[in-house]
Amino acid sequence: MGKENSARRPAVDTVLDPFAGRGTALYSAAVMGRQGFGIEVNPVGWIYTRTKLSPASKNEVERRLIQIQRLAHRYSSVSAKLPAFFHHCFSSEVRRFLLCARAQLNWRQCNVDRTLMAFLLVHLHGKRSDSFSNQMRQTKAMAPNYAVKWWKARRLKPPKLQPVEFLKTKLRWRYARGIPKARPSKAYLGDSASVLASLKGKLSGRGLHRPSLLLTSPPYFGITNYHYDQWLRLWLLGGPPTDRRTLNPYNGKNRGRFANRETYQRLLTTVFQRASKLLKPDGVVYVRTDRREPTLAITKLALKAAFPRHRLQRMDRPIEGKTQTRLFGNGDPRTGDVDLVLASPYPSYLGQYKRRRNRRRPRSRPTPILSNRRRPEELAIRRGRSS
Ligand SMILES: C[S@@+](CC[C@H](N)C(=O)[O-])C[C@H]1O[C@@H](n2cnc3c(N)ncnc32)[C@H](O)[C@@H]1O
Repeated sequence: MGKENSARRPAVDTVLDPFAGRGTALYSAAVMGRQGFGIEVNPVGWIYTRTKLSPASKNEVERRLIQIQRLAHRYSSVSAKLPAFFHHCFSSEVRRFLLCARAQLNWRQCNVDRTLMAFLLVHLHGKRSDSFSNQMRQTKAMAPNYAVKWWKARRLKPPKLQPVEFLKTKLRWRYARGIPKARPSKAYLGDSASVLASLKGKLSGRGLHRPSLLLTSPPYFGITNYHYDQWLRLWLLGGPPTDRRTLNPYNGKNRGRFANRETYQRLLTTVFQRASKLLKPDGVVYVRTDRREPTLAITKLALKAAFPRHRLQRMDRPIEGKTQTRLFGNGDPRTGDVDLVLASPYPSYLGQYKRRRNRRRPRSRPTPILSNRRRPEELAIRRGRSS
């Protein structure tokens, strides 16, 4: 979705992302004047997405931050009972503050609370000098026992910071350029298969238009279940204080889902089929996925089953930066992404255009639809080999 496309206003009004993650696709759509409509099963990704789409104001968030800080002293005894990991990871002041936020913030219902929670989640762990935690990666929480050993061996202590002052600096920086204008959009928290089924025939009642673009990146087979490595953030949202892979409301149906071929295939097939019922008949499907098998083969199968009349084109995307595949993968040097683009060979606007052309121009003229000036993106799709 480049700048030049937005200037030409192509016929994409609503963009559907059934695996919304942190909301990159939905946010891009919304700031470019389109409606974003997405679903995410992991509450961490959902909070980021909702906050990007409609953040509370800086003043509201600051006021709530101060309220939380005032109540934090009530959490001293709970703090003392936390497992050892938390004592090595956070200072006592930060622990009390986080416990208070965990108990008080109503992030599901209240926009101000959700925005503040998004800030807490972002800065919960990372570099010692720039987060609430002892030294850790920002993307992935370490396993608790491993982390404690690692900190002890290096004599690393949790940073002593004032939660309110620390977050005020982050808020100032984040809001410095104001809040970007975004078209009202929707992000649902839940399993895409169920949410899409519940929305069939009810889009307009929910203020949604039929999507003309399905733009997504589904989970990659066998890479991560998006919960284990986020266990600490999920704890802050009310989950258990452990990375154990037991079934609970915070890892839910996802547990092991992406390491079993059949369940993985069932998930993609169901989601794409249900999404196809909502998409406009000449809608375009753009899916970024893993180049490795079985992810690629399963994704193609699921897409072809859901969109039998669309033509499928594959584009390889060698990635230079850090990707989830590299972060969580097995070090396979061939890692990289692939874009699968599916478009109807006869989109409705071409049909209308052809009818008009036939009325006005002699048949022998070159077909203007195939001129590069007219629809380069359509040309690329039509010329691409069907795979
Ligand atoms: C590859 S990531 C998407 C990344 C996203 N494009 C972004 O920019 O952040 C796949 C996402 O699908 C989510 N997911 C997995 N199963 C799901 C389901 N059944 N329903 C909704 N979301 C699901 C995962 O939690 C994960 O965030």
